[in-house]
Amino acid sequence: MPERRKLIAGNWKMNGLHAAGLELATDLSKRLAAAGTVGFDMLVCPPATLIHPVAQAVAGTPLAVGGQDCHVKPSGAHTGDISAAMLVDAGCAFVIVGHSERRQNHGEDDALVAAKAAAAHAAGLIAIICVGETLEQREAGQALDVVASQVAGSIPSRADAANTVIAYEPVWAIGTGKTATSADVAEVHAHVRATLAGRIGDPDAVRILYGGSVKPSNAAELMAVDHVDGALVGGASLIADDFWGIAETC
Ligand code: G3P
Repeated sequence: MPERRKLIAGNWKMNGLHAAGLELATDLSKRLAAAGTVGFDMLVCPPATLIHPVAQAVAGTPLAVGGQDCHVKPSGAHTGDISAAMLVDAGCAFVIVGHSERRQNHGEDDALVAAKAAAAHAAGLIAIICVGETLEQREAGQALDVVASQVAGSIPSRADAANTVIAYEPVWAIGTGKTATSADVAEVHAHVRATLAGRIGDPDAVRILYGGSVKPSNAAELMAVDHVDGALVGGASLIADDFWGIAETC
């Protein structure tokens, strides 16, 4: 069984102006430097306007920077969009694709998510591919099927453990304070792992993150679940003490 180093990723979503964003990222990078050897990788995904200044502020430190979305094309007439190459140019090593807020608010389907992940890979980025069921789907007993179908449909060819991370984020747990139980998370993560077999290079080495109301008080229990290889954190990633507190449970 390959060792999977935990990844603690912060998705700032549409939050953060220049001064506060720089202060948060700098604070985290200083904590990482002071901590020395740690058992996790740490990533922040600021809004597009802050990617470059944040990347410059933390350059040379172990804190990685990522984007929250990318376009499928490398350049062209796509007003308001950002290409994977632009994210690399701004200092990113990662990009989130297929977040449920993109799937719901921008009508993104699995095929588009797979194309975005492929574009990310072509540019040299690690794609964090998000999947997760709605409350209605869970209550209808469809959670495992929905997530497996999203995983299968959202992974592009040439994906492997080095360029791809999966994030399981039950939609009903995002920003609601409701967290899936450890048993639910264990069941879905094991199912995601099984779904990866045959669809991705080195499936046992792929990191599978949990996301949805992760906070310092529930992180230890969640991070101890089998096949949970880190967290994708929204609200709590905006507070340095909370985000660091989550990471410290790893
Ligand atoms: O991508 C992270 C996310 O959607 C979870 O958000 O605020 O529930 O931690 P939150």
